[in-house]
Amino acid sequence: MIGIFDSGVGGMTVARAIEHICPDYPLIYFGDIARTPYGSKSRETIIEYSRRNTDLLINHGATVIVIACNSAASTATDALRNQYPLPVIDVITPATVKAASVTRGNRVGIIGTRATVRSGVYEDRIQAINPDCRVISRACPLLVPLVEENWLNRRETKMILRRYLHPLRLQQIDTLVLGCTHYPLLSKLIQPRIGKRVQLIDSSIEVAMHLKKFIDNNADIKDKLQQHPAASRFLVSDSTGPVRQLADRIFGRTIHLEKVDA
Ligand code: DGL
Repeated sequence: MIGIFDSGVGGMTVARAIEHICPDYPLIYFGDIARTPYGSKSRETIIEYSRRNTDLLINHGATVIVIACNSAASTATDALRNQYPLPVIDVITPATVKAASVTRGNRVGIIGTRATVRSGVYEDRIQAINPDCRVISRACPLLVPLVEENWLNRRETKMILRRYLHPLRLQQIDTLVLGCTHYPLLSKLIQPRIGKRVQLIDSSIEVAMHLKKFIDNNADIKDKLQQHPAASRFLVSDSTGPVRQLADRIFGRTIHLEKVDA
């Protein structure tokens, strides 16, 4: 199975994109609702949680791991790749490749959690591909709780977005990476506030397309994924009303969340 983990429910935007782009393979998703948010935690804690999540997914049959949380991907990818003998795909790299290739004026904005922005990983990767590119990052810590509360069309959310995006607008960015898996749910509010000429990069779609290419190019991984056809499962370390509502909203259907000890 394709194992996907996130700090909570936001990574379901990645699971949804993977389900759409790689429909032939079952998914096993784990959302660490009990410990969310990761974005404000220390590096050591994020790595420890990411290891636990990977163990859990492997125990449930995962043969590929997708880190569907930018905070975890920016902090724990190397630690997981060093420790586990299976492919670990991070949500960040495909988005940086896309941003570096589509920017017309070499001015890319990044929005993400504090952990993601602190890591500097987006800047490093984009500039490794395109050294002329100026990358301007902005931490937006209030957005994850607003999404988790389902405040997707509230006046307060629009006001906060305007405040967060204003400095990026002044810098005249031409491309904006949604560097947090919760943010695609806000893209309809983000686009008019950053300007309609700015191209939004949705990291969930980029990672799903990257995963498809990876599976298509690796026959042994493809075989393993096809060997055990099973239904997709969605595991969580805690389950609350708003989380269930958000999961259903992301997928546009009822999602059965299984609470597990983790
Ligand atoms: N899903 C996380 C991310 O993409 C945001 C939530 C968190 O901080 O845990 O960074």
